[in-house]
Parts: sequence; C-alpha cells; structure tokens
Amino acid sequence: MQINFTLNHKPVLIDAPTDITLLTLLRDHFKLTGSKEACEVGECGACSVLLNGEVVNSCLVAAPSVMGCDVVTIEGIHAEDGGPNDLQQDFITKGAVQCGFCIPGMVIAGEALLSIKSDPSRLEIREALAGNLCRCTGYMQIVDAIETTAKERAGKQNPQKREN
Ligand code: FES
Ligand code: FES
Repeated sequence: MQINFTLNHKPVLIDAPTDITLLTLLRDHFKLTGSKEACEVGECGACSVLLNGEVVNSCLVAAPSVMGCDVVTIEGIHAEDGGPNDLQQDFITKGAVQCGFCIPGMVIAGEALLSIKSDPSRLEIREALAGNLCRCTGYMQIVDAIETTAKERAGKQNPQKREN
C-alpha cells in the first residue's frame, strides 16, 4: 500500500505492508531507529513520536493510519545546525541521560508538553512523562532538564521577566 505523509517536516511516499505498525514503518522502512522498540504494547513510551503534534506510542499506531498526517520522530528534533536543541542539551547538562534508551521518548514528551505549556510545574512535567518509563530511574534529572528548558525559553521570549 502506498502511504504518503509528512515525516520530520518533509513529504514522503512509501510502499509498505498494511499490517505493520508506525514503529516498524519508521525503523525498518525509513531506517529511523531513534524511536525505540521495547514493550510493543503501549506501556513504556520508548517508541513515542509526535502525530499531528500529539504524543503517541508508535507501536500502537497502524502504519496506514498516518496517511496525510504529520509525524515527527526524535530525528526531526534538533537545533538549526543539526546538533542537539536546547532541550536535548539540557538533558545532557542535567545528567538526565544514562543508558539513553528512554531518552528519545522523553524528549518527544517534553517537547509536546512545552508546545502547549510554556511554564509547567514539576508536577505537570511528571504527569506529561507518565507514559514514559526510565529503567535507569533518572526521573528527577529528566524533570530538571525539561523545567530548565521551559525557563530558558521563557527568558528568551521575555527577557525583562528573566531579569525580575
Ligand atoms: Fe511502544 Fe513500549 S514500545 S510503548
Ligand atoms: Fe536508561 Fe532512561 S536513561 S532507560
């Protein structure tokens, strides 16, 4: 079946079987392996991607259902020069990355939260990460990273507020 959609800000068209998941489509057909394959039953969030701006577990999404949709994977999130963006840099700076397996999903969830809530509380950040498991249990540093990025972005948008 031919599936056309927007993947990481570019239109794509691919011939793929109808009985595969979005996760398999991304990893096996597009060779985008940043979205991780773990539980495959929607419990860990390692496969998280943005589908029309919302976080979804790509292991639960049927590939044909993304026809005409906008899909962003961790490979589509970066700074203008292709390096880590501010959130990814804060994950590094705050020591939030241990084995790294959960981190693509955590960054996806963090970006989704910050796109709708510029000044989230720590509780709101934890709630936004509720579907993402970190087997290294680095939750505090992950929350620290997202909180730091929120403050940095708010400071850039409103420099005066930062000074006060
Ligand atoms: Fe999709 Fe765990 S692999 S939620
Ligand atoms: Fe290892 Fe989260 S950093 S699973």
